Amino acid sequence: MSTQTHKEAKKVTTHVLQEMKIRGEKISMLTAYDYSMAKIFDAAKIDVLLVGDSASNVMHGHQTTLPITLDEMISHAASVIKAVDRALVVVDLPFGSYQGNSKAALNSSIRIMKEAEAHAVKLEGGEEVVESVKRILTAGIPVMGHLGLTPQSIYKFGTYEVRAKENAEAAKLINDARLLEQAGCFALVLEKIPAALAKQVAESVKIPIIGIGAGPHVDGQVLVSHDMLGINKDFSPKFLRRYLNLYDEIQKAVEHYVADVKSSDFPNEKEQY
Ligand code: KIV
Repeated sequence: MSTQTHKEAKKVTTHVLQEMKIRGEKISMLTAYDYSMAKIFDAAKIDVLLVGDSASNVMHGHQTTLPITLDEMISHAASVIKAVDRALVVVDLPFGSYQGNSKAALNSSIRIMKEAEAHAVKLEGGEEVVESVKRILTAGIPVMGHLGLTPQSIYKFGTYEVRAKENAEAAKLINDARLLEQAGCFALVLEKIPAALAKQVAESVKIPIIGIGAGPHVDGQVLVSHDMLGINKDFSPKFLRRYLNLYDEIQKAVEHYVADVKSSDFPNEKEQY
């Protein structure tokens, strides 16, 4: 058995994540959508980069995650992959590329793996996507599940409020987690559910559970990078910790630049040929 810790591991794989859960070592995950950010995140030793369909909101300016296309996701994923030496890169299957059709799920996943050279795919849903998970796995493609608040179903839920507060929905979520594990998912994201329920799920399955707004008793945490870096000022859910206020910092820098150009302060004598 290897005694190598994940910090020494040259590349984070799905097996490394499994070993981390067994050791009790927390998994760090962030979203990334482009080459330059992904390069910084990988240098900072993030374990997993998610090319999330939140790109629909933060990169394309849509109100929901529904409009982003498979071609757009592949383009984001291909630029992230080029930047990464160490992190595991997981790519969201976008809305409409897998629902209700396991053959479409397989074909979309193959495109992501072949055209972007990604390491794994993620899809939203429980029992209803089990057949798709199994079919994607027949091609040797690792699959991450996503339960709780699943933004691709926003028009079914009607709100972005905390999910599974009632017993029936909590019981379904636990059952869905078990079904996804049995189907072969290597990990699950749990979004915006009560911390006690997330703990129960993390204890009842062997695969790593990565939480977002799901409390501390899970195997890892994920945040949308634009939110934690403060690029996005309009989104402030309770679960979010902001590590920077990049919106303000960038605005200040650009105002400074505009003023320097207007006053002919830039470029100075040293900044010319
Ligand atoms: O698309 C995304 O950013 C996600 C995270 C919220 C987990 O799915």
